[in-house]
Amino acid sequence: MSDTKPWYQEAVFFELNIRAYRDSDGDGNGDFRGAITKLDHIKSLGVDCIWVQPMYPSPLRDDGYDVADYTGIHTDFGTLDDFRAFLDAAHARGLRVIIDVVMNHCSIDHPWFQAARADRNSPYRDYFVWSDTPEKYKEARIIFLDTEPSNWTYDTVAGQYFWHRFYSSQPDLNYDNPAVHEEMFNVLRFWLDMGIDGFRADAVPYLYEREGTNCENLPETHVFLKAVRRLLDAEYPGRVLIAEANQWPEDLLPYFGDGDEFQVCFHFPIMPRLYMALKRGDKTPIIDILNRTPPIPPGTQWMTFLRNHDELTLEMVTPEERQWMWEQYAPELRMRLNLGIRRRLMPLLDDDRRRWLALNALFLSLPGTPILYYGDEIGMGDNIWLEDRHGCRTPMQWSAERHAGFSEAARTYQPVIDQPPYDYRTRNAAAQEADPDSYLNLTRFLIATRQGQPALRAGALAWVETSDAAVLAFRRMTEGAPAVLCLFNLSDSVRPGLALPADMRDLLSREGRVFAAKQQIELAPFAAHWFVEEA
Ligand code: NOJ
Repeated sequence: MSDTKPWYQEAVFFELNIRAYRDSDGDGNGDFRGAITKLDHIKSLGVDCIWVQPMYPSPLRDDGYDVADYTGIHTDFGTLDDFRAFLDAAHARGLRVIIDVVMNHCSIDHPWFQAARADRNSPYRDYFVWSDTPEKYKEARIIFLDTEPSNWTYDTVAGQYFWHRFYSSQPDLNYDNPAVHEEMFNVLRFWLDMGIDGFRADAVPYLYEREGTNCENLPETHVFLKAVRRLLDAEYPGRVLIAEANQWPEDLLPYFGDGDEFQVCFHFPIMPRLYMALKRGDKTPIIDILNRTPPIPPGTQWMTFLRNHDELTLEMVTPEERQWMWEQYAPELRMRLNLGIRRRLMPLLDDDRRRWLALNALFLSLPGTPILYYGDEIGMGDNIWLEDRHGCRTPMQWSAERHAGFSEAARTYQPVIDQPPYDYRTRNAAAQEADPDSYLNLTRFLIATRQGQPALRAGALAWVETSDAAVLAFRRMTEGAPAVLCLFNLSDSVRPGLALPADMRDLLSREGRVFAAKQQIELAPFAAHWFVEEA
């Protein structure tokens, strides 16, 4: 029954970039004190848990995923006391908080690396992966293809090459060294003791290296990750561990273990297929990937998303599909990055409200725990002229005031979007608050409607046959609650839909419109319906 499900199986998550949210002290960077003043906005969306992106001391060469101190707070974002105040304020509103833990690598600025490079005999030398040649582990792919020529970088101070799967400013930690395990366990305890509700564990497939493999998903990695889970279960029951592993569904399955590794894994491959299906007007990619997704152990869950702070990754599609996606969604080269697309949700959809609604309704009715990316709830735009992925990480647009009400500083960490149609003077939370049909209010409506239906929160899925490739239909079902029939037109032409088996109410029509049994429904372009049987 739904009331016995663990909280993360039925929750909606929200991804928060603390630097981008609200600046309370006028230094041009968002901070925890500022974010506290915006918790009511987050709560009003109907979400249950906030994922706070890296907030650690860091040179920010990878926006904080290059950690220089695992138990501190970046001075731009506040202090440990500010973090505690944020956590308490979130909890007081019934919002849980998870944080990023970056176990695979740290920053070259971390004292461990500084000690390691300076002295071969330092105990910290063995915290990293060194080699006299860059010839080892040749089968490991390069992830940041546009910037990194190799996974090895020669360090002149150390007199050796060090291993890194991401930027050369992010040396990988050496998980063959048990001392690294102990360090990480203590980092986890530090934050769990403070009361956080869990972790989004960054880049977990890459913890170990072994010759003759692609250095991903190795058995040793799973042994370590299971030890992390044991720590949580034994010392902090009820906290959640979420895996960021950009892999195919069958390779993700081991990250759940027998229910003794991660409780939640991001489902990467579904995401590009939602966009693909919408552009092609063909449901096949969605059905294929979900049919290829194996059942997962009891008590676990997938996490789904439309966009996040990274490029829209096209690693989990074929080369032909990737090329097609680039042509369709990133016609300008500047929009492409590594194997992906650095654009936000709304520009990907050409600011088309019908597509926005269809995609969100689809996303919120498919299996999995959804996570929203800050700013997408108001249809924020991007700035492709900023470097790296920063174009999707610009300040939140609160109002038509200077710097979008984000900051009183002369200059903000990145410029606010000021070009139509995403110009902060017209696209902002305050303006949308007043409009019942705004993206903001529709987001609230969609989330509340989903969360009101146990079948949509965590029910089973059964496909419903339709003879039209553009018409996607499925039922979500759970014991003791009404089933929901979800129906979508993925094309921009009118399509004949289904004949309903009974009189049914459309939860997505705000007037609660009832459709009569046996009557053939006509589907408007990009129509989305969630039907429940009329009592
Ligand atoms: C995944 C994060 O989402 C991304 O932003 C980061 O650059 C890499 N991991 C490396 O930490």
